[in-house]
Amino acid sequence: MNILPGTQPIIEITYLVASVLFILSLKWMSSPSTARHGVRAGEIGMLLAIGGTLLQHGIVDYKSIAIALVLGTGIGIPLGLVQMTAVPQRTALSHAFGAFCVTLVGTAEFYLRSPDISRFTMAVLSAEVILGSLTFTGSLMAGGKLQEILPQRPLTYKGQNLVNLVLLTIALAGAGYLVLHPGARQLFPAIVGISFLLGVLMIIPIGGADMPTVISLLNSYAGLSAAAMGFVLDSKLLIIAGALDGSSGFILSVIMSKAMNRSFGNVLFGAFGQVQAATVAGQEARTARSATAEEAAAILVAANKVVVVPGYGMAVAQAQHKVRELYDTLSKRGVEVRFAIHPVAGRMPGHMNVLLAEADIPYDRLVEMEDINGEFSQTDVALVIGANDVTNPAARTDSSSPIYGMPILDVDKARTVMVIKRSMSPGFAGIDNPLYYLDKTLMLFGDAKLFVNDIVRELAGGGNN
Ligand code: TAP
Repeated sequence: MNILPGTQPIIEITYLVASVLFILSLKWMSSPSTARHGVRAGEIGMLLAIGGTLLQHGIVDYKSIAIALVLGTGIGIPLGLVQMTAVPQRTALSHAFGAFCVTLVGTAEFYLRSPDISRFTMAVLSAEVILGSLTFTGSLMAGGKLQEILPQRPLTYKGQNLVNLVLLTIALAGAGYLVLHPGARQLFPAIVGISFLLGVLMIIPIGGADMPTVISLLNSYAGLSAAAMGFVLDSKLLIIAGALDGSSGFILSVIMSKAMNRSFGNVLFGAFGQVQAATVAGQEARTARSATAEEAAAILVAANKVVVVPGYGMAVAQAQHKVRELYDTLSKRGVEVRFAIHPVAGRMPGHMNVLLAEADIPYDRLVEMEDINGEFSQTDVALVIGANDVTNPAARTDSSSPIYGMPILDVDKARTVMVIKRSMSPGFAGIDNPLYYLDKTLMLFGDAKLFVNDIVRELAGGGNN
């Protein structure tokens, strides 16, 4: 590696500071109050990492880097401006780019070094390329399903898992052969090709609804492939960053699966979402009671304790700022308002925290599921805004329900339940919600943003305007 004279200590220090910042970034991002510092630390760390790498003159050509920088910035800025609900697919696209880059670097390294590659280097290079290629196509598939460019429903066929296992075994066996015979250059494209195919085949049996969990798993693969690349290129920074990415992505997938009471195996091989239509069609007719914004406002203002339960519908409607107005109005009237946060409400981890933080709702008003559940029985009104599955009591009581065992917010224990949603349509799991038919439940039919706005207007005394 050709390095500009005298720059080695600067590069080492830059990489060390970048590594520390990456670690701090993850730590800070674990709490809403420090999350912004976490993002800044990650950004500065990445800037230092790029700066340090640019000092390593000789391994790169500055002109092509400048062109790549302009191109990357041109693509990156619009990607950063997508709607919050599109963040999972945007993240999938970033993983695809990262993984493709890792695959290209691995391929270049192989052809530059082969046949003089040590067994260890060949082993990590194979891991890098296999993980990188399957993450590339897998992430594109996952993003496509979430964006609904590709069909969301799981596509299954007989012996599917076996086919995937056989392909993986062939790729690994090819890699094993290359470790022993690194001069077998013709084998390399076959390994990459099989891994590309595997990425596609692994994702098609998974329903669109499980994609956020899968994306976080693909995040983990992308991190591991980057760490493997770190070993190939002898870069401690890449090893550290890749390992952080790999482990955090994996932990996140486990947390998400747990919160949905699904095993990893069920998410990856369960083809969840296939039976949704049939389940809904099978519901017998039951009646739900509805109420107007005026009635809802009267109930809310008469309450002492209100717990707001936000969900995916609040995100779709972008109702968080109106919800903030409702919070302000009720608080001024002496009503205690808190927000119950379910770990998988919405479509991505921390979705509700981010939206409520965006609307400047104080962090101490947000209460996690374990802490709030014991308090619903002393709550006057549980106001559910665009949440469905995370409030479904069938998860507690109906062992035949697809979400049986999923921890839920026990809103049905509140004295009165009010649910803002547009219709009786099911949520993500595609199942009916018995909560809506309880005597204590009032359905507030409408778009979350418009309905909350109407309630706020009623509370301000402008109902007839
Ligand atoms: P859902 O169960 O998906 O229910 C959302 C509800 O919002 C729908 O029933 C819909 O009913 C309503 N809605 C949609 N647009 C609306 C609008 N503009 N105004 C008012 N209501 C609207 O949401 P949830 O309770 O947040 O549960 C999340 C689900 O996603 C869980 O099943 C969870 O397992 C799954 N999931 C979450 C994640 C993460 S990490 N958060 C990842 C994967 C899967 P209408 O159509 O009648 O309005």
